[in-house]
Amino acid sequence: MSSLLAELCASASAAFAAEGLGPEFGIVQPSDRADLAQFQCNGALSAAKAAKTNPRAIAEKIAARLSGTGLFSDVSIAGPGFINLKLKDAFLQARLQTLADAPESALPKSGAGKRVLLDFGGPNVAKPMHVGHLRSAIIGDCLQRLFAALSWTKLSDVHLGDWGLPMGQLITELALRQPDLPYFQDADLSPYPAQSPVTMEDLEILYPEASNACKSDPIRLETARQATAELQAGRPGYRVLWQHFFKVSEIGLQREFASLGVRFDMWKGEADAAPLIPPMVENLKAAGLAVMSEGALVVPVAEDGDTKEIPPLILLKSDGAVLYGTTDLATIVERETSFDPDLVLYVVDQRQHGHFEQVFRAAKKSGLSGDALLEHVGYGTVNGTDGKPFKTRAGGVMKLFDLIAMATEEAEKRLAEQGLAADYPAEERAAIARMVGVAAIKFADLSNNRVSGYVFDLERFTRFEGKTGPYLQYAAVRIKSILRRAREEGHSLGAPVIRSEEERRLALQLLAWPETLLAAEEKRAPHYICDYVFTLAQSFSRFYAEHHILSESDAELRSARLGLCAVTLAVLEQGLSLLGIEIPERM
Ligand code: ARG
Repeated sequence: MSSLLAELCASASAAFAAEGLGPEFGIVQPSDRADLAQFQCNGALSAAKAAKTNPRAIAEKIAARLSGTGLFSDVSIAGPGFINLKLKDAFLQARLQTLADAPESALPKSGAGKRVLLDFGGPNVAKPMHVGHLRSAIIGDCLQRLFAALSWTKLSDVHLGDWGLPMGQLITELALRQPDLPYFQDADLSPYPAQSPVTMEDLEILYPEASNACKSDPIRLETARQATAELQAGRPGYRVLWQHFFKVSEIGLQREFASLGVRFDMWKGEADAAPLIPPMVENLKAAGLAVMSEGALVVPVAEDGDTKEIPPLILLKSDGAVLYGTTDLATIVERETSFDPDLVLYVVDQRQHGHFEQVFRAAKKSGLSGDALLEHVGYGTVNGTDGKPFKTRAGGVMKLFDLIAMATEEAEKRLAEQGLAADYPAEERAAIARMVGVAAIKFADLSNNRVSGYVFDLERFTRFEGKTGPYLQYAAVRIKSILRRAREEGHSLGAPVIRSEEERRLALQLLAWPETLLAAEEKRAPHYICDYVFTLAQSFSRFYAEHHILSESDAELRSARLGLCAVTLAVLEQGLSLLGIEIPERM
């Protein structure tokens, strides 16, 4: 099913072309005045400007041609030459029927034949995940669902931070505490014990200790740097120890992401690209792209016309240690060979924009990224109600489990206030509260324009009124329950019929789904989907308020309205599933 808007644009373009005018003037958009028209085309004004003629005269000719298509119940001209359009109900009904017959036909196949790699999540080994990683996970997950739904061949990678200074810091901290462990002896004592010397809880203590010590003590910092360089150079004991850090963290992180319903196709990290670094560096040197600067090996990436200084990408420090940019560059090489993507999306904090600018320029300049388009999909920070970056009450980093627990608790309160799920078994009520809590967090995060920051306010996010995840879940559950009762009462679902303004508005909103998906894909903008499902739920609500459905005595009308309920649910379910929001069976 093509997008309705695309079809209208095609008709208008044909009308302009038939008048000997540029088809590019045939742009149709939803009307700014929904009370006057459904769609409008302002092309006559720009066409008249280009041809230096009277816009109204052009508008009249275009309007006549559009009337002739038989699609519209009303074509009228307003003001200097705006064309207002209303579609015939029969046309809307036919399209609605196509959607009802095959809801998946609403998903444009815009990604067919194309490969996208999504790099998101990106927590760091041994460090607790913070709310920034949560944003990356939520936005990245929505984008991976969207791209997959639009027929892209999709691969996602959590890209763990596992190859930098924190690893050396951990090694030296543990060496201070347990110097007798075999990993720290000079000789290679392979095979080393299979059992990890640390648990996730240990790492959570060791890392902050180590990091603080390095901040106040330059010698500690130097030792940690040294250990990092040795690890990267392949010192056997350190490599084995590092593997334990990685495994222990991976298990913990997988549990955390799973609790959020976020899955990755690959659990790779910076270190996976490490073996590719030496040959890559050699090639860059040989090609004259990597040069020495102040003891470090760098790739200059400044370009003519830069308005601000773009510093060179540092490949190797003077001690031979590699940096964040080096592993990112080598990871590009790895992905080119293993997946050959057309597009790579990095869903990472907006504040890393400069970093990605350097990496992408270096990759392009050296041809390492082939013909792949590399794109930083940045996002803003999450702030507390005090306007400062979000922290726990004690001032620490909020852990994902705690966050979900808090949201679930808040959701429980809301359910009780609303008298929802009250007499359900405790287990089911708890599961619903959890789904509502997670939906509240996800929807709040996704509904903001991703580049702007937002205030984390659970009280607001968990409300059942307004533009929230819980409101949408409730809307979907309500339609489910109507359809369930219809089944129980033996009513059939019929073809949707449009007889009232509420039905017409709902139909138009349903038919705007494909173009919403395309826009969300193009702008990498989950909030388009949020806006859409919210408006859809509101349109349904108005329809529901104004019409009898189950209580309608005319069987034909009832079944047509049930049909409309069913399509609405199908589209709402698609939308919420793209947002990663689960819908309870009942509430
Ligand atoms: N680990 C990084 C951080 O915590 C994010 C990694 C993002 N992905 C990438 N390819 N650089 O900031």
